[in-house]
Amino acid sequence: MTRTAQELKREVAQAAFDFIAPHLDANAVLGIGTGSTANEFIDILGQSDVSFKSAVASSEASAERLRSHNIPVVELNSVDRIAFYIDGADEANAHLELIKGGGAALTREKIVAAASDVFVCIADESKEVATLGRFPLPIEVIPMAERLVMTALGALGGRPVLRAGVVTDNGNSIIDVHDLHITAPKALETTLNQITGVVCNGLFAHRGADILMLSGESGVRVLRAS
Ligand code: 5RP
Repeated sequence: MTRTAQELKREVAQAAFDFIAPHLDANAVLGIGTGSTANEFIDILGQSDVSFKSAVASSEASAERLRSHNIPVVELNSVDRIAFYIDGADEANAHLELIKGGGAALTREKIVAAASDVFVCIADESKEVATLGRFPLPIEVIPMAERLVMTALGALGGRPVLRAGVVTDNGNSIIDVHDLHITAPKALETTLNQITGVVCNGLFAHRGADILMLSGESGVRVLRAS
């Protein structure tokens, strides 16, 4: 029987939980991402009796969901290091480079990923692509720089579209860049970081995933960064 999208998310979240649980102890701090797949992981974690200390959340929404399970949520500034970061993605390639930010949480997600020893990315296999860019690339922008940044993004060959009505947890805007064919993700990530007014871009190439778990009809595939 064909699995629903929800079942695929649940299965990959369960696989991630099963993978990390044996490595946790009472001092472990977890990084928790944002989105419907990350939500499945939060619910599995919250219903488990696995021992860990606390969680750092990549969004206010995830922090709230964690607290609803009585999981202690702490600020990143209060922890030395995060053992595992578990989060979804909008696209992933074979090098475990990602596009993230469909849920507008990319900046905090990139910060938590940078502070984590192991980034476990969880998604269903519809997110797997040969070349990143089919999903519009989210860019977080200081609101007063929207027009300036959109002009610069257009000059790079993309088609920037302001995400209407969205304000990030950091008080900024999101521009989605359509029609990109990203053959050099690391170089593009660096270039986008140089645009004045850009807070963060949704390419996770310099710090991609360490482990990518993809659920599909035949189960969960696990890819590791080489
Ligand atoms: C949020 C993200 C999410 O990880 C991404 O959008 C995937 O979400 P979902 O698990 O709901 O498909 O980057 O900013």
